[in-house]
Amino acid sequence: MSSPSAAARIAQLRSELAHHDELYYRQARPEISDFEYDLLKKELEALEASQPAVASSARIGDDRSEGFVRARHLQGMTTLDNTYDEAELREFHTRILKLTGRKPAGSAAEPSVELPPPAPEGMLFAFDTPPPAPAAATKPTSPSPPAAPQPSADEPLYTVEPKVDGVAISLTYTEGRLTRAVTRGDGEEGDEVTANVRTIRNLPQSLSDATPPPLIEIRGEIFLRNEEFQRINRLQEEAGLEPYANPRNLTAGTVKLLDSAEVASRGLEIVLYGIGHSDTAVAETQTGLRARLAAWGLPVLPHFWTVRGIDAALTAIRELDALRHGFPFATDGAVVKLDNMAEQRRAGFRGEGQSARKLSPRWACAYKFAPDRAETLVRDITIQVGRTGALTPVAELEPVLLAGTTVRRATLHNADEIARKDVRIGDTVLIEKAGEIIPAVISVVLPKRPPTCAAYVFPTACPACQTPVVRVEGGVAWRCPNPDCPEQLLRRLTHFASKACLDIEGLGEEMVALFVSNKLIRTLPDIFRLRAADLLPLKKSGEVWAAKLIAAIDTARRADLWRVIHGLGITQVGAASAKDLARRLPSLELFLAADELALMSISGIGERTAAFILEWLRNDSNRRLLAELQAVGLTPTPPAAPTAATAPLTGKTLVLTGTLPGLSREQATEMIEAAGGKVSGSVSKKTSYVLAGEEAGSKLEKAQSLGIPILYEAAFRALLAPRE
Ligand code: IVH
Repeated sequence: MSSPSAAARIAQLRSELAHHDELYYRQARPEISDFEYDLLKKELEALEASQPAVASSARIGDDRSEGFVRARHLQGMTTLDNTYDEAELREFHTRILKLTGRKPAGSAAEPSVELPPPAPEGMLFAFDTPPPAPAAATKPTSPSPPAAPQPSADEPLYTVEPKVDGVAISLTYTEGRLTRAVTRGDGEEGDEVTANVRTIRNLPQSLSDATPPPLIEIRGEIFLRNEEFQRINRLQEEAGLEPYANPRNLTAGTVKLLDSAEVASRGLEIVLYGIGHSDTAVAETQTGLRARLAAWGLPVLPHFWTVRGIDAALTAIRELDALRHGFPFATDGAVVKLDNMAEQRRAGFRGEGQSARKLSPRWACAYKFAPDRAETLVRDITIQVGRTGALTPVAELEPVLLAGTTVRRATLHNADEIARKDVRIGDTVLIEKAGEIIPAVISVVLPKRPPTCAAYVFPTACPACQTPVVRVEGGVAWRCPNPDCPEQLLRRLTHFASKACLDIEGLGEEMVALFVSNKLIRTLPDIFRLRAADLLPLKKSGEVWAAKLIAAIDTARRADLWRVIHGLGITQVGAASAKDLARRLPSLELFLAADELALMSISGIGERTAAFILEWLRNDSNRRLLAELQAVGLTPTPPAAPTAATAPLTGKTLVLTGTLPGLSREQATEMIEAAGGKVSGSVSKKTSYVLAGEEAGSKLEKAQSLGIPILYEAAFRALLAPRE
C-alpha cells in the first residue's frame, strides 16, 4: 500500500477502533466480536509497523465512568499482547530466550548473562486444586511434529492458564483485610467499586494469614458463569430491555452498577492470578504465587499448567482448548507467562516509559482461540411473545453444526439489532459461538444475498393477537400491550405451572395449550378450578391421567410461598429473589402489604427489582389476581422457621475445598445456607467445619493444622439429614 493510502487507512482504523473501544470499555455494548476487533487491530499494527512516520497506538481502553470515585493504582495495570497464531507464540518464545540471556536454537551464542536459579521442581503443581492432566512438561502428548523436540534443561518454565473473559480488577488488602477494589480504568487510575466487589460470594474479605503483607494489590478477573448470564439476560429480555451480548459485557455492566444490592442479586465471581504493588516479596514464581494466593483462601484458576519450553506450552494450550467448552465460564484463550519472576523483571515491558495502558509485559502472551463460527441460511424470522409481552425476533436457521451442537435458531434480540445488522429472510449469515452457549448472528454474508431479498419489516401488530405493538419505555423492545394476548397467557400459565414455580406435574406447555384452546383455562386461578370431569373429554380413557393431574394441582395449592411469588412472573423476580422475599415477607398478605422501605431492606433485592415489584403490587388487576388465587384455595406454605432440627448449621461457618463427588459447589452452598449456615472462602479459627472433596489442597491442610473438624460428603449429608 502506498504511503498516503496507508496513512488514510491507519486514520480510519484508529477512529473505528476508538469507536469500538468506547462501546466495549465504557458502555459494555460492543458491536463487533473480539475476534473482529483483533483483526482490525492487527491490520493497524501491521500498517503502523510499515509506516514508521506514523506513531503507533495500542488498544487504549478506559472503563472509567460517571458516578464513581477515582482511585490511582499503586502499580499500573498493563494490557497483554495477544495472538491467534502458533508461529507468533513461537516468536514470543524466541524473544524470551533472548531477553533472558538464553541461546535461541540455531543462533549464535548470546553474551552470557547470570541467570537466576531455576524454580525448584518441587514447586510444580503445589496447588489447592491440581491441574486435570499430567504435566505436559513431563509427558508431552503433542500430536504435532514428528517426535516433539525434548526441551533442554535451559528452556524456561512457562505457566499456561485460561484467559478468563471477564473484567480486570485490582484488590488492595491492607494488613490482610480487603480495603479497596478498583477497575483497570486507564491503567493508571480506575473507578473504586469496593462496595460492589464486597458482594462477590467467593471473595474472602480477609487473607487467611497470621502475618499478611502490610499492603498488597492483588489482580484478577471478575466474571459471570454462563448459567447466571443466561438467567439475568432472560429477565432483561422479559423486561423489554436490551440483553447483554455476552457474559463479559454483563459482568462489566454489573461491576459498574450504582446499587450494590442489585449487584449482590447477580452471582458475580472472581478469580485472582497476579500481583500489582506489594510491600513484601510474595513469591519467586507464577506457580508459587498461585499457591500463595490459594493458601490465603483466595479463589485461583482451577486449570493451570507449569511446563518447560514452548512445545510443552503449546501442548498445554491444546489440552486447555479441549477442556474449555466444559468450563462454566467464558474463556477466550490461554495466557502463557514466564514462570520465574526474576526473569519476568529482566524481560520487562513493551512500551516502557509510556503510561501503563500502553505497556504490555514481554514475559506474557495471550494465545486466543478463534471463535467457532459457521455460515448458514436464515429460513425465516419469527417473533416470540414473552409472558410480559416483550417481542423477541428469532432467526430460524438452516440447521448447522457449531462447536459440537446443531444450531437451528439464534436470537436476534430486538428490532434495532435486526436493523443494525440488516438481517433479511433468505440471507446467509455468519453465526458464532464464543465462550457463551447461545449462538449469535454476527453479520450477513452480503455477496451471498439473493437479489430478491427484501429488508425485514418488524411487525407493527402482535403476531398472536394482532394488537398494535408499543415500544417499551426506555428500552429497545416492542411489546404487545394486550394482557389477554393468548401467547402471553400461554407463557404465563406455563411458567406458573413449571418445575421452577408451582411444579405441577403433567401441566407442561403442550397441556396448557390444549386447555387454553379448549377454553378450560384463561387465567392462573382457572388452573385450580379444573375438575376431572372437564378433562375426560380431552383424552380417550383418560381417567387415571385426569385424576393424577387434579391431584397434582391440589398439592400445588400448598406450594412453597417462594414458588408462588416466582410463578407470578414479576419482572426481574427470579427464584433467588422470590426466596429472599418469602423469607422476609412470609405470607401473601405481608407480600401484598410490602412498601418500598420493606422491599429495599431485603438483602438481594436491589432498587430496580424493588421498583418492578412495587409497580406489580400497585396494579389493581394483579391484586385481584392474588385475591382470586386465595379464593380458589391457594394457601402457600411459608418458609419454615429455622429450628435446631431444620437448621442444624445455624451459627456455623463452613469452608468448601476440592471437588465433592456428588454435589456441585452451588448445591453444597445452597444446602449449607438452607440449614442456617454460612459459607466462607477462607479457613480461620472461626471456621466450624471444612467440607472437603477430592483434590482438596491447602485449605484442608490449614484446617488440619488449626484442628478444625473436616467433613466429607457422606458425613455432611448425614449432618443435614432430617432428624426426629
Ligand atoms: S495476566 C500484565 N492472566 O486478560 C497483565 N490476565 O487481554 C497480566 N485476563 O489484562 C495479566 N485471564 O484482564 C492474566 N489468567 C489470566 C487472565 C488475564 C484474563 C485478562 C486480564 C488482562 C487481559 C488481557
